[in-house]
Amino acid sequence: MNEIEFARHRRLRTSDSLRAMVRETWLRKEDLIYPLFVVEGEKIYKEVPSMPGVFHISLDAVMDEMKEIVELGIKSIILFGVPAEKDPLGKQAYHDHGIVQEATRLIKSEYPELVIIADTCLCQYTDHGHCGIIDNGKVLNDPTLDLLAKTAVSQAQAGADIIAPSNMMDGFVAAIRHGLDQAGFGDIPIMSYAVKYSSSFYGPFRDAAHSSPQFGDRKTYQMDPANRMEALREAESDVNEGADFLIVKPALSYLDIMRDVKDRFPLPVVAYNVSGEYSMIKAAAQNGWVNEQEIVMEKLTSMKRAGADLIITYHAKDVAKWLSN
Ligand code: PBG
Repeated sequence: MNEIEFARHRRLRTSDSLRAMVRETWLRKEDLIYPLFVVEGEKIYKEVPSMPGVFHISLDAVMDEMKEIVELGIKSIILFGVPAEKDPLGKQAYHDHGIVQEATRLIKSEYPELVIIADTCLCQYTDHGHCGIIDNGKVLNDPTLDLLAKTAVSQAQAGADIIAPSNMMDGFVAAIRHGLDQAGFGDIPIMSYAVKYSSSFYGPFRDAAHSSPQFGDRKTYQMDPANRMEALREAESDVNEGADFLIVKPALSYLDIMRDVKDRFPLPVVAYNVSGEYSMIKAAAQNGWVNEQEIVMEKLTSMKRAGADLIITYHAKDVAKWLSN
């Protein structure tokens, strides 16, 4: 054996301590953004059937949840609203007393330090379930921009710290930036869902948010999963329009895209670990087929390794607990 030469990679793997010393990627509590579904009504704390461990929460129950989140050391949440009433123009999205606006005011009054991100979209609020105004079966781009800007401004007025537009109309960052600036919210950042694929991994979320399109699909505005250059074009235009963060969504099947985006644009990159990615692990773990803690930590670490600075994940509470131990 002595005459042949080869590298001894195993030298750096001989103990836990040594492995920790050479570990290149760390997951921190500060990386986590926890998504929350706030619903209209009273005394609601109801598990979403397709997302075990995720709940619909009414405003009278939301403070208990907040206490838990803050005590766990989670610094940021993203709010999704499930309104009682829907209409063709999604009016509850930009209503001063809409569910997200009310939840934001309430949470901010008690936890001013918690960073509240408002998801800015129309699909939960429209009766047709599309993310924009419909005319003749088509989703109209430019008229939708006005409603998005209005939604963002009303969310900022309620106290949201970051606006996260997810609807994939062209020009939505420019329109929202302009709207926020005009309304005096020049210092509110935009976390753009810059690269959002038309994905089957959103299935459980649409159950949770009651936001499935009532006809057709979202392929005219969300991206084709087969495309990579298109992701770079999407990210580039959002950067030029003034985005402060870039989201890549979904995360797990798109780690190559995350790396591309991170290498090319000097902005914080956010992985959205979406509902389908969450529910698949939950289902397998409930069957005893995988070790939930190990597999979740592995997949979130992989997202960071691929270039994510932050991760929006339904696993956030569990991960915060595991990181404390
Ligand atoms: C749409 C929106 C979606 C998600 C968040 N906001 C996707 C969609 O229905 O197209 C998905 C999140 C998830 O799956 O966890 N505004």
